[in-house]
Amino acid sequence: MAKFIVPKEITHGLGSLEEVKKLSGKKAVIVIGGSSVKKNGVLDRTEKYLSEAGIESAVYSGVEADPSIETVINGAEFLTEQQPDIIIGLGGCSAIDAAKAMWVYYEYPDSKLEEISKPFAVKKMRSKAIFVAIPSTSGTGTEITGLSVITDKNRGTKYPIVSHELTPDVAIIDGELCASMPAHVTANTGLDALSHGVEAYVSNIADRYNDALAKDSVKIIFDNLKTAYSQPENKEVRQAMHDASCMAGMAFTNVWLGIVHAMSHQLGGTFGIPHGCANAILMPNVIRFNSKVTNKYQDLAKLIGKNSSEDFAVEVENLRASVGVVSSIKEYGIDEKIWEEKIDTLTQNALNDPCTLFNPRKPEFEEIKALYMACYRGVASNI
Ligand SMILES: NC(=O)c1ccc[n+]([C@@H]2O[C@H](COP(=O)([O-])OP(=O)(O)OC[C@H]3O[C@@H](n4cnc5c(N)ncnc54)[C@H](O)[C@@H]3O)[C@@H](O)[C@H]2O)c1
Ligand SMILES: [Zn+2]
Repeated sequence: MAKFIVPKEITHGLGSLEEVKKLSGKKAVIVIGGSSVKKNGVLDRTEKYLSEAGIESAVYSGVEADPSIETVINGAEFLTEQQPDIIIGLGGCSAIDAAKAMWVYYEYPDSKLEEISKPFAVKKMRSKAIFVAIPSTSGTGTEITGLSVITDKNRGTKYPIVSHELTPDVAIIDGELCASMPAHVTANTGLDALSHGVEAYVSNIADRYNDALAKDSVKIIFDNLKTAYSQPENKEVRQAMHDASCMAGMAFTNVWLGIVHAMSHQLGGTFGIPHGCANAILMPNVIRFNSKVTNKYQDLAKLIGKNSSEDFAVEVENLRASVGVVSSIKEYGIDEKIWEEKIDTLTQNALNDPCTLFNPRKPEFEEIKALYMACYRGVASNI
């Protein structure tokens, strides 16, 4: 038996931001990151649509990339002051994830990150507010997922808060919002979406519902990412990438992810390597590692006109290079001495990350460490 859980309402298509007009409630707090949604007019439009719907609004701004627990607690205080019955996460996943975690603290003010980040520990939500997610990056799928990733900057690790209670009530997937994404953000987030499709497809609890979504997302990303990167204003391609990210999100929120994410959470938390970039560095060697126990990568290779798992790993490397993403942790700029000092902690934290539970091959400490070392140097591993 398996469940398939996604938001009750998913509106997708160019111009679908207007769906905000159909929300009902008294007061919305819109949580945003930096200035991009102000510059591109999306925040103004969202406020205008809310006002047309007779909903008052307030804005919490300044969520940083890889949001910290301090930001979450700050934002939760703002929510408590404002008492919204709708919380809107608008922008990149960092803004939306922070908004999700603020929502937990708003509903349960005594929450502790160590407690709520235990798998499925978040209690019943929605006694105070519903959650609307409007992404402006095509990557994480947070508009669909029961997941929020919060960074503990002191410990240098990311805490995934995992609970279907965090699945948004409404998701609006409007590719127009992504036209302003800088090329490197398009590349990193698109490769993140690819890693979701790939990891969901080989998850040890994969099923045919999620396989269909995961496979199609992989195909759409191979067909569109390069164009989204080189033609940022091409709205049809932006929508295709936005849809693929959402579809990959639907798959992985139900069957979860694997060690690409378990390992990349540490690279993000410790060195600040952008999430999608870290995934793209790790993915080819994880494909090689997992392909010793699963043939499923061959299906993905066939989708793009290739045959073997190794072909698929190489095609991921080629796609990564074609959108200007580095091929190793060293090339990203992490100093070798610092790397050597951190490697054991990174490895242990990756083993403890909940995503490791769903990897098709159960890894040992030395195997994760060897994978990290190969990805540090940018060489193909054979573990
Ligand atoms: N919740 C989930 O399901 C999930 C899944 C995977 C990863 N994550 C987490 O998501 C975070 C990364 O999120 P992200 O990849 O969306 O990046 P992000 O939200 O950190 O945004 C990256 C940068 O792009 C800018 N930006 C976003 N949209 C823009 C636009 N349309 N135009 C111009 N600039 C724009 C942001 O202001 C920011 O500077 C990480 O913390 C990662 O761990 C969450
Ligand atoms: Zn991811």
